[in-house]
Amino acid sequence: MTRTLITNGLVITASDELSVDVLVEDGKVVALGTGQNWTADTTIDASGKYVVPGGVDAHTHMEMPFGGTQAADTFETGTRAAAWGGTTTIVDFAIQSMGGSLREGLDAWHAKADGNCAIDYAFHMIVADVNDASLKEMEALVGEGVTSFKLFMAYPGVFYSDDGKILRALQKGAETGGLTMMHAENGIAIDVLIEQALARGNTDPRYHGEVRHALLEAEATHRAIKLAQVAGAPIYIVHLSAAQALAQVQAARDEGFNAFAETCPQYLFLSTDDLARPGFEGAKYVCSTPLRPAEHQAALWRGLRSDDLSVVSTDHCPFCFKGQKEMGIGDFSKIPNGLPGVETRMDLLHQGVVEGHISRKRWIEIASATPAKMFGLYPRKGTIAPGADADIVIYDPTATQVHSASTHHMAVDYSCYEGRETTGRVETVLSRGKVLISGGEYHGKPGDGQYLKRDTCQYLR
Ligand code: URP
Ligand code: ZN
Ligand code: ZN
Repeated sequence: MTRTLITNGLVITASDELSVDVLVEDGKVVALGTGQNWTADTTIDASGKYVVPGGVDAHTHMEMPFGGTQAADTFETGTRAAAWGGTTTIVDFAIQSMGGSLREGLDAWHAKADGNCAIDYAFHMIVADVNDASLKEMEALVGEGVTSFKLFMAYPGVFYSDDGKILRALQKGAETGGLTMMHAENGIAIDVLIEQALARGNTDPRYHGEVRHALLEAEATHRAIKLAQVAGAPIYIVHLSAAQALAQVQAARDEGFNAFAETCPQYLFLSTDDLARPGFEGAKYVCSTPLRPAEHQAALWRGLRSDDLSVVSTDHCPFCFKGQKEMGIGDFSKIPNGLPGVETRMDLLHQGVVEGHISRKRWIEIASATPAKMFGLYPRKGTIAPGADADIVIYDPTATQVHSASTHHMAVDYSCYEGRETTGRVETVLSRGKVLISGGEYHGKPGDGQYLKRDTCQYLR
Protein backbone atom coordinates (compact mmCIF):
# COMPACT_ATOMS: atom_id res chain seq x y z
CA MET A 1 0.00 0.00 0.00
CA THR A 2 1.36 3.45 -0.91
CA ARG A 3 0.10 6.55 0.90
CA THR A 4 0.44 10.16 -0.18
CA LEU A 5 -0.59 13.10 1.96
CA ILE A 6 -1.26 16.53 0.50
CA THR A 7 -1.16 19.13 3.26
CA ASN A 8 -1.91 22.81 3.81
CA GLY A 9 -3.61 23.49 0.46
CA LEU A 10 -7.00 24.92 -0.41
CA VAL A 11 -9.04 22.05 -1.86
CA ILE A 12 -11.39 23.38 -4.54
CA THR A 13 -14.14 21.26 -6.08
CA ALA A 14 -17.25 22.25 -7.99
CA SER A 15 -19.14 22.50 -4.70
CA ASP A 16 -16.64 23.43 -1.97
CA GLU A 17 -13.50 25.30 -0.98
CA LEU A 18 -11.95 23.60 2.05
CA SER A 19 -8.66 24.11 3.88
CA VAL A 20 -8.10 20.39 4.48
CA ASP A 21 -5.46 17.73 3.95
CA VAL A 22 -6.02 15.00 1.38
CA LEU A 23 -5.01 11.39 2.01
CA VAL A 24 -4.40 9.14 -0.99
CA GLU A 25 -4.01 5.38 -0.75
CA ASP A 26 -3.27 3.09 -3.69
CA GLY A 27 -4.37 5.60 -6.28
CA LYS A 28 -7.64 6.60 -4.62
CA VAL A 29 -8.61 9.50 -2.40
CA VAL A 30 -9.48 7.95 0.95
CA ALA A 31 -10.03 10.90 3.27
CA LEU A 32 -10.11 14.68 3.63
CA GLY A 33 -9.56 16.25 7.03
CA THR A 34 -7.57 18.40 9.43
CA GLY A 35 -5.47 17.55 12.51
CA GLN A 36 -5.54 13.81 11.81
CA ASN A 37 -1.86 12.93 12.37
CA TRP A 38 -1.93 10.86 9.21
CA THR A 39 1.36 9.26 8.18
CA ALA A 40 2.35 8.71 4.57
CA ASP A 41 5.19 7.54 2.32
CA THR A 42 5.16 10.89 0.54
CA THR A 43 3.95 14.25 1.82
CA ILE A 44 3.32 17.11 -0.57
CA ASP A 45 3.19 20.56 1.02
CA ALA A 46 0.62 22.62 -0.87
CA SER A 47 0.89 25.78 1.28
CA GLY A 48 -0.43 28.77 -0.66
CA LYS A 49 -1.61 26.49 -3.49
CA TYR A 50 -4.91 25.17 -4.76
CA VAL A 51 -5.55 21.42 -4.68
CA VAL A 52 -7.96 20.70 -7.52
CA PRO A 53 -9.29 17.65 -9.39
CA GLY A 54 -7.40 16.92 -12.60
CA GLY A 55 -9.01 18.40 -15.69
CA VAL A 56 -11.36 16.33 -17.83
CA ASP A 57 -11.09 17.37 -21.48
CA ALA A 58 -14.12 15.85 -23.20
CA HIS A 59 -13.18 16.81 -26.76
CA THR A 60 -9.81 15.91 -28.31
CA HIS A 61 -8.62 14.56 -31.65
CA MET A 62 -5.22 12.89 -31.21
CA GLU A 63 -3.66 11.76 -34.52
CA MET A 64 -6.95 12.39 -36.33
CA PRO A 65 -6.82 12.05 -40.13
CA PHE A 66 -8.50 15.21 -41.43
CA GLY A 67 -8.30 17.61 -44.36
CA GLY A 68 -5.77 15.48 -46.24
CA THR A 69 -3.36 15.25 -43.32
CA GLN A 70 -3.28 14.08 -39.72
CA ALA A 71 -3.46 15.95 -36.39
CA ALA A 72 0.11 16.45 -35.19
CA ASP A 73 -0.23 15.14 -31.63
CA THR A 74 -0.20 11.38 -31.18
CA PHE A 75 -1.87 9.82 -28.16
CA GLU A 76 1.60 9.74 -26.60
CA THR A 77 2.55 13.39 -27.17
CA GLY A 78 -0.94 14.79 -26.75
CA THR A 79 -1.72 13.09 -23.44
CA ARG A 80 1.72 14.03 -22.08
CA ALA A 81 1.03 17.66 -22.99
CA ALA A 82 -2.38 17.37 -21.34
CA ALA A 83 -0.70 16.21 -18.11
CA TRP A 84 1.67 19.19 -18.21
CA GLY A 85 -1.42 21.41 -18.36
CA GLY A 86 -3.22 19.72 -15.46
CA THR A 87 -5.60 17.56 -17.48
CA THR A 88 -5.72 13.95 -16.31
CA THR A 89 -8.53 12.53 -18.46
CA ILE A 90 -9.39 13.00 -22.12
CA VAL A 91 -12.32 11.75 -24.13
CA ASP A 92 -11.15 11.42 -27.75
CA PHE A 93 -13.21 10.71 -30.86
CA ALA A 94 -12.96 7.34 -32.58
CA ILE A 95 -14.08 7.62 -36.21
CA GLN A 96 -16.27 5.36 -38.33
CA SER A 97 -15.06 5.55 -41.92
CA MET A 98 -17.60 5.86 -44.74
CA GLY A 99 -18.78 2.34 -45.59
CA GLY A 100 -17.04 0.92 -42.51
CA SER A 101 -18.51 -0.24 -39.22
CA LEU A 102 -18.40 1.52 -35.86
CA ARG A 103 -16.54 -1.49 -34.49
CA GLU A 104 -13.73 -1.16 -37.05
CA GLY A 105 -13.38 2.52 -36.21
CA LEU A 106 -13.35 1.91 -32.48
CA ASP A 107 -10.82 -0.93 -32.78
CA ALA A 108 -8.54 1.32 -34.84
CA TRP A 109 -8.64 4.04 -32.16
CA HIS A 110 -7.96 1.52 -29.40
CA ALA A 111 -4.91 0.36 -31.36
CA LYS A 112 -3.61 3.94 -31.60
CA ALA A 113 -4.12 4.71 -27.90
CA ASP A 114 -3.40 1.40 -26.19
CA GLY A 115 -0.11 1.50 -24.27
CA ASN A 116 0.68 5.05 -25.38
CA CYS A 117 -1.28 7.37 -23.12
CA ALA A 118 0.13 9.31 -20.17
CA ILE A 119 -3.31 9.87 -18.63
CA ASP A 120 -6.63 8.02 -18.55
CA TYR A 121 -8.72 8.17 -21.69
CA ALA A 122 -12.11 7.23 -23.09
CA PHE A 123 -13.80 7.41 -26.48
CA HIS A 124 -16.79 9.00 -28.12
CA MET A 125 -17.71 7.65 -31.55
CA ILE A 126 -18.03 9.78 -34.70
CA VAL A 127 -20.83 8.28 -36.77
CA ALA A 128 -20.01 9.23 -40.35
CA ASP A 129 -22.32 6.73 -42.01
CA VAL A 130 -25.75 6.46 -40.39
CA ASN A 131 -27.40 3.27 -41.69
CA ASP A 132 -29.30 0.28 -40.30
CA ALA A 133 -26.08 -1.51 -39.36
CA SER A 134 -24.39 1.43 -37.63
CA LEU A 135 -27.61 2.31 -35.77
CA LYS A 136 -27.72 -1.25 -34.45
CA GLU A 137 -24.06 -1.06 -33.44
CA MET A 138 -24.73 2.06 -31.35
CA GLU A 139 -26.72 -0.07 -28.90
CA ALA A 140 -23.79 -2.45 -28.35
CA LEU A 141 -21.33 0.41 -27.92
CA VAL A 142 -23.41 2.06 -25.19
CA GLY A 143 -23.25 -1.25 -23.31
CA GLU A 144 -19.48 -1.23 -23.70
CA GLY A 145 -18.88 2.24 -22.29
CA VAL A 146 -18.84 4.29 -25.49
CA THR A 147 -21.94 6.27 -24.63
CA SER A 148 -21.81 9.36 -26.85
CA PHE A 149 -21.94 9.79 -30.62
CA LYS A 150 -20.90 12.78 -32.68
CA LEU A 151 -22.78 13.72 -35.83
CA PHE A 152 -21.96 16.47 -38.31
CA MET A 153 -24.28 18.95 -40.02
CA ALA A 154 -21.09 20.30 -41.68
CA TYR A 155 -18.48 18.83 -44.06
CA PRO A 156 -20.67 17.43 -46.90
CA GLY A 157 -19.00 14.39 -48.47
CA VAL A 158 -16.85 13.74 -45.40
CA PHE A 159 -18.74 13.43 -42.10
CA TYR A 160 -22.04 15.13 -43.05
CA SER A 161 -25.38 13.57 -42.16
CA ASP A 162 -28.67 14.89 -43.55
CA ASP A 163 -31.64 15.65 -41.29
CA GLY A 164 -33.21 12.22 -41.81
CA LYS A 165 -30.04 10.45 -40.73
CA ILE A 166 -29.66 12.79 -37.79
CA LEU A 167 -33.24 12.11 -36.70
CA ARG A 168 -32.69 8.36 -36.86
CA ALA A 169 -29.50 8.61 -34.79
CA LEU A 170 -31.27 10.83 -32.23
CA GLN A 171 -34.10 8.30 -31.98
CA LYS A 172 -31.49 5.64 -31.24
CA GLY A 173 -30.07 7.93 -28.53
CA ALA A 174 -33.53 8.25 -26.97
CA GLU A 175 -33.81 4.45 -26.97
CA THR A 176 -30.35 3.58 -25.61
CA GLY A 177 -29.38 6.51 -23.39
CA GLY A 178 -26.52 7.44 -25.74
CA LEU A 179 -25.87 11.17 -25.92
CA THR A 180 -25.78 12.77 -29.38
CA MET A 181 -23.06 15.39 -29.80
CA MET A 182 -23.64 17.76 -32.70
CA HIS A 183 -21.28 19.74 -34.90
CA ALA A 184 -23.91 22.37 -35.67
CA GLU A 185 -23.08 24.33 -38.82
CA ASN A 186 -25.10 24.34 -42.05
CA GLY A 187 -22.43 22.70 -44.22
CA ILE A 188 -24.48 22.70 -47.42
CA ALA A 189 -24.93 26.49 -47.31
CA ILE A 190 -21.32 27.00 -46.21
CA ASP A 191 -20.04 25.08 -49.25
CA VAL A 192 -21.95 27.46 -51.55
CA LEU A 193 -20.41 30.46 -49.80
CA ILE A 194 -16.92 28.89 -50.02
CA GLU A 195 -17.31 28.42 -53.77
CA GLN A 196 -18.52 32.01 -54.22
CA ALA A 197 -15.72 33.47 -52.07
CA LEU A 198 -13.02 31.58 -53.95
CA ALA A 199 -14.56 32.62 -57.31
CA ARG A 200 -14.24 36.26 -56.17
CA GLY A 201 -10.57 35.67 -55.37
CA ASN A 202 -11.16 35.82 -51.60
CA THR A 203 -8.67 33.11 -50.69
CA ASP A 204 -7.11 34.37 -47.42
CA PRO A 205 -7.68 32.64 -44.04
CA ARG A 206 -10.02 35.38 -42.83
CA TYR A 207 -12.65 34.29 -45.37
CA HIS A 208 -12.91 30.99 -43.48
CA GLY A 209 -14.62 33.00 -40.72
CA GLU A 210 -16.84 34.92 -43.13
CA VAL A 211 -18.27 31.93 -45.02
CA ARG A 212 -18.92 30.00 -41.82
CA HIS A 213 -21.47 32.62 -40.85
CA ALA A 214 -22.69 32.90 -37.25
CA LEU A 215 -26.29 32.60 -38.50
CA LEU A 216 -25.44 29.28 -40.14
CA GLU A 217 -24.24 28.05 -36.76
CA ALA A 218 -27.38 29.40 -35.09
CA GLU A 219 -29.65 27.86 -37.75
CA ALA A 220 -28.01 24.44 -37.42
CA THR A 221 -28.09 24.64 -33.62
CA HIS A 222 -31.82 25.44 -33.75
CA ARG A 223 -32.48 22.61 -36.22
CA ALA A 224 -30.44 20.10 -34.19
CA ILE A 225 -32.36 20.97 -31.03
CA LYS A 226 -35.73 20.70 -32.78
CA LEU A 227 -34.80 17.33 -34.30
CA ALA A 228 -33.75 16.16 -30.83
CA GLN A 229 -37.07 17.34 -29.38
CA VAL A 230 -38.96 15.43 -32.08
CA ALA A 231 -36.92 12.32 -31.25
CA GLY A 232 -37.35 12.83 -27.50
CA ALA A 233 -33.58 12.72 -27.11
CA PRO A 234 -31.05 14.88 -25.27
CA ILE A 235 -28.47 16.77 -27.31
CA TYR A 236 -25.03 18.24 -26.66
CA ILE A 237 -23.78 20.96 -29.01
CA VAL A 238 -20.00 20.86 -29.42
CA HIS A 239 -17.57 23.78 -29.87
CA LEU A 240 -20.25 26.48 -29.76
CA SER A 241 -18.78 29.86 -30.77
CA ALA A 242 -21.57 32.24 -31.84
CA ALA A 243 -23.76 34.26 -29.47
CA GLN A 244 -26.74 33.56 -31.76
CA ALA A 245 -26.19 29.79 -31.39
CA LEU A 246 -25.97 30.17 -27.62
CA ALA A 247 -29.34 31.96 -27.69
CA GLN A 248 -30.84 28.84 -29.28
CA VAL A 249 -29.46 26.61 -26.53
CA GLN A 250 -30.63 29.04 -23.87
CA ALA A 251 -34.17 29.14 -25.30
CA ALA A 252 -34.35 25.33 -25.33
CA ARG A 253 -33.05 25.08 -21.78
CA ASP A 254 -35.52 27.74 -20.62
CA GLU A 255 -38.26 25.49 -22.00
CA GLY A 256 -36.86 22.69 -19.83
CA PHE A 257 -35.41 20.67 -22.67
CA ASN A 258 -32.21 18.61 -22.24
CA ALA A 259 -29.99 20.70 -24.53
CA PHE A 260 -26.39 21.03 -23.38
CA ALA A 261 -23.46 22.84 -24.94
CA GLU A 262 -19.73 23.28 -24.65
CA THR A 263 -17.48 26.08 -25.76
CA CYS A 264 -13.68 26.12 -26.02
CA PRO A 265 -10.96 28.49 -24.74
CA GLN A 266 -10.19 29.72 -28.27
CA TYR A 267 -13.67 31.24 -28.51
CA LEU A 268 -13.21 32.99 -25.15
CA PHE A 269 -9.72 34.39 -25.81
CA LEU A 270 -9.26 34.65 -29.61
CA SER A 271 -11.28 36.35 -32.35
CA THR A 272 -11.61 37.10 -36.06
CA ASP A 273 -8.78 39.63 -35.53
CA ASP A 274 -6.48 36.61 -35.20
CA LEU A 275 -7.91 35.00 -38.35
CA ALA A 276 -7.17 38.27 -40.15
CA ARG A 277 -3.50 38.42 -39.09
CA PRO A 278 -1.26 39.57 -41.96
CA GLY A 279 0.28 37.24 -44.50
CA PHE A 280 -0.85 33.68 -44.03
CA GLU A 281 -0.57 33.74 -40.21
CA GLY A 282 -4.34 33.70 -39.86
CA ALA A 283 -4.20 30.01 -40.89
CA LYS A 284 -2.97 29.23 -37.39
CA TYR A 285 -6.45 30.20 -36.19
CA VAL A 286 -8.56 28.22 -38.68
CA CYS A 287 -10.96 25.91 -36.88
CA SER A 288 -14.67 25.08 -37.18
CA THR A 289 -16.88 26.44 -35.84
CA PRO A 290 -14.71 29.50 -36.56
CA LEU A 291 -13.45 32.23 -34.27
CA ARG A 292 -16.00 35.05 -34.00
CA PRO A 293 -15.71 38.84 -33.59
CA ALA A 294 -14.57 39.70 -30.04
CA GLU A 295 -18.10 40.88 -29.08
CA HIS A 296 -19.21 37.23 -28.85
CA GLN A 297 -16.84 36.55 -25.96
CA ALA A 298 -18.94 38.40 -23.36
CA ALA A 299 -21.99 36.32 -24.31
CA LEU A 300 -19.97 33.10 -23.97
CA TRP A 301 -18.66 34.04 -20.52
CA ARG A 302 -22.23 34.92 -19.52
CA GLY A 303 -23.37 31.54 -20.83
CA LEU A 304 -20.74 29.85 -18.69
CA ARG A 305 -21.95 31.69 -15.61
CA SER A 306 -25.61 30.92 -16.29
CA ASP A 307 -24.90 27.24 -17.15
CA ASP A 308 -26.33 27.55 -20.67
CA LEU A 309 -22.77 26.53 -21.51
CA SER A 310 -21.95 23.65 -19.18
CA VAL A 311 -18.51 22.50 -20.30
CA VAL A 312 -15.28 23.92 -21.69
CA SER A 313 -13.40 21.40 -23.82
CA THR A 314 -10.47 22.08 -26.13
CA ASP A 315 -11.39 20.46 -29.47
CA HIS A 316 -7.61 19.88 -29.52
CA CYS A 317 -6.83 19.11 -33.17
CA PRO A 318 -3.39 20.57 -33.90
CA PHE A 319 -1.80 21.01 -37.30
CA CYS A 320 1.69 22.45 -37.74
CA PHE A 321 1.91 25.77 -39.55
CA LYS A 322 4.80 24.50 -41.67
CA GLY A 323 3.64 21.90 -44.13
CA GLN A 324 0.11 21.40 -42.73
CA LYS A 325 -1.66 24.76 -42.37
CA GLU A 326 0.38 25.81 -45.44
CA MET A 327 -1.66 23.35 -47.52
CA GLY A 328 -4.21 26.17 -47.75
CA ILE A 329 -2.00 28.91 -49.20
CA GLY A 330 -4.09 30.40 -51.99
CA ASP A 331 -7.28 28.56 -50.89
CA PHE A 332 -8.52 28.94 -47.31
CA SER A 333 -10.82 25.93 -47.72
CA LYS A 334 -7.76 23.66 -47.91
CA ILE A 335 -6.36 24.78 -44.53
CA PRO A 336 -6.79 21.81 -42.16
CA ASN A 337 -9.36 22.81 -39.53
CA GLY A 338 -8.28 22.67 -35.92
CA LEU A 339 -6.23 24.26 -33.15
CA PRO A 340 -3.88 23.04 -30.42
CA GLY A 341 -5.14 23.54 -26.87
CA VAL A 342 -5.06 20.45 -24.67
CA GLU A 343 -2.21 21.88 -22.58
CA THR A 344 -3.57 25.39 -22.04
CA ARG A 345 -7.25 24.89 -21.10
CA MET A 346 -6.90 24.81 -17.29
CA ASP A 347 -4.62 27.87 -17.31
CA LEU A 348 -6.79 29.91 -19.65
CA LEU A 349 -9.89 29.14 -17.61
CA HIS A 350 -8.02 30.10 -14.46
CA GLN A 351 -7.23 33.36 -16.23
CA GLY A 352 -11.03 33.70 -16.53
CA VAL A 353 -11.11 33.49 -12.71
CA VAL A 354 -8.34 36.08 -12.41
CA GLU A 355 -10.22 38.43 -14.75
CA GLY A 356 -13.47 37.99 -12.81
CA HIS A 357 -15.50 36.12 -15.44
CA ILE A 358 -16.08 33.00 -13.31
CA SER A 359 -15.54 31.86 -9.73
CA ARG A 360 -12.92 29.29 -8.67
CA LYS A 361 -15.59 26.64 -8.08
CA ARG A 362 -17.12 27.32 -11.48
CA TRP A 363 -13.63 26.90 -13.01
CA ILE A 364 -13.48 23.38 -11.61
CA GLU A 365 -17.11 22.68 -12.48
CA ILE A 366 -16.76 23.49 -16.20
CA ALA A 367 -13.27 22.00 -16.56
CA SER A 368 -13.57 18.82 -14.47
CA ALA A 369 -16.81 18.00 -12.68
CA THR A 370 -19.43 18.66 -15.36
CA PRO A 371 -17.52 16.99 -18.22
CA ALA A 372 -17.10 13.97 -15.93
CA LYS A 373 -20.85 13.93 -15.15
CA MET A 374 -21.88 14.68 -18.73
CA PHE A 375 -19.92 11.70 -20.05
CA GLY A 376 -20.49 9.18 -17.28
CA LEU A 377 -17.19 9.34 -15.38
CA TYR A 378 -18.25 10.98 -12.10
CA PRO A 379 -17.31 10.70 -9.22
CA ARG A 380 -14.38 8.55 -10.27
CA LYS A 381 -13.17 11.61 -12.19
CA GLY A 382 -13.89 15.32 -11.73
CA THR A 383 -13.77 15.66 -7.95
CA ILE A 384 -11.66 15.17 -4.84
CA ALA A 385 -13.70 12.98 -2.50
CA PRO A 386 -13.29 9.63 -0.77
CA GLY A 387 -13.48 6.91 -3.43
CA ALA A 388 -12.47 9.13 -6.33
CA ASP A 389 -9.37 8.42 -8.39
CA ALA A 390 -6.50 10.47 -7.02
CA ASP A 391 -6.21 12.62 -10.14
CA ILE A 392 -5.07 15.76 -8.37
CA VAL A 393 -3.40 18.99 -9.44
CA ILE A 394 -1.49 21.27 -7.10
CA TYR A 395 -2.00 24.66 -8.73
CA ASP A 396 -0.05 27.84 -7.94
CA PRO A 397 -2.57 30.67 -8.37
CA THR A 398 0.01 33.46 -8.27
CA ALA A 399 2.78 32.19 -10.57
CA THR A 400 2.78 33.84 -13.97
CA GLN A 401 3.73 32.28 -17.29
CA VAL A 402 4.20 33.43 -20.85
CA HIS A 403 2.77 31.01 -23.40
CA SER A 404 5.02 29.96 -26.25
CA ALA A 405 5.62 27.18 -28.75
CA SER A 406 9.20 27.14 -27.54
CA THR A 407 8.13 25.93 -24.09
CA HIS A 408 4.88 24.03 -24.61
CA HIS A 409 4.77 20.24 -24.89
CA MET A 410 2.26 19.82 -27.72
CA ALA A 411 3.82 18.49 -30.94
CA VAL A 412 2.91 21.56 -32.94
CA ASP A 413 5.15 24.38 -34.15
CA TYR A 414 3.10 27.34 -32.95
CA SER A 415 1.07 28.53 -29.99
CA CYS A 416 -2.23 30.36 -30.47
CA TYR A 417 -1.26 32.39 -27.39
CA GLU A 418 2.38 33.15 -28.26
CA GLY A 419 3.71 35.84 -25.89
CA ARG A 420 0.50 36.06 -23.83
CA GLU A 421 1.00 36.19 -20.06
CA THR A 422 -1.43 34.42 -17.75
CA THR A 423 -1.52 34.09 -13.97
CA GLY A 424 -1.63 30.62 -12.42
CA ARG A 425 0.39 27.53 -13.15
CA VAL A 426 0.31 23.78 -12.66
CA GLU A 427 2.92 22.70 -10.13
CA THR A 428 2.29 19.01 -9.44
CA VAL A 429 0.03 16.48 -11.18
CA LEU A 430 -1.03 13.11 -9.81
CA SER A 431 -2.82 10.54 -11.93
CA ARG A 432 -4.37 7.78 -9.82
CA GLY A 433 -1.89 8.73 -7.10
CA LYS A 434 1.19 8.55 -9.32
CA VAL A 435 3.16 11.79 -9.67
CA LEU A 436 3.31 12.66 -13.37
CA ILE A 437 4.57 16.24 -13.08
CA SER A 438 6.60 17.81 -10.28
CA GLY A 439 9.53 20.15 -9.98
CA GLY A 440 9.21 21.08 -13.65
CA GLU A 441 9.84 17.47 -14.72
CA TYR A 442 7.69 14.78 -16.30
CA HIS A 443 7.86 11.50 -14.38
CA GLY A 444 5.34 9.46 -16.36
CA LYS A 445 5.65 7.05 -19.25
CA PRO A 446 3.53 5.92 -22.18
CA GLY A 447 1.00 3.40 -20.94
CA ASP A 448 0.44 5.00 -17.52
CA GLY A 449 -3.00 6.03 -18.80
CA GLN A 450 -5.79 3.47 -18.73
CA TYR A 451 -8.87 3.13 -20.92
CA LEU A 452 -12.10 4.16 -19.19
CA LYS A 453 -15.48 2.57 -19.89
CA ARG A 454 -18.09 5.23 -19.36
CA ASP A 455 -21.63 5.26 -17.97
CA THR A 456 -24.35 7.21 -19.76
CA CYS A 457 -24.83 10.94 -19.17
CA GLN A 458 -25.40 11.55 -15.47
CA TYR A 459 -27.68 14.54 -15.99
CA LEU A 460 -30.35 12.27 -17.43
CA ARG A 461 -30.86 9.80 -14.61
O1 URP B 1 -11.78 22.63 -36.58
C1 URP B 1 -12.07 21.64 -35.91
N1 URP B 1 -12.99 21.76 -34.99
N2 URP B 1 -11.45 20.46 -36.13
C2 URP B 1 -11.72 19.25 -35.49
C3 URP B 1 -12.89 18.53 -36.03
C4 URP B 1 -14.20 18.97 -35.44
O2 URP B 1 -15.10 19.34 -36.17
O3 URP B 1 -14.34 18.94 -34.21
ZN1 ZN C 1 -16.79 19.43 -34.92
ZN1 ZN D 1 -13.68 18.36 -32.60
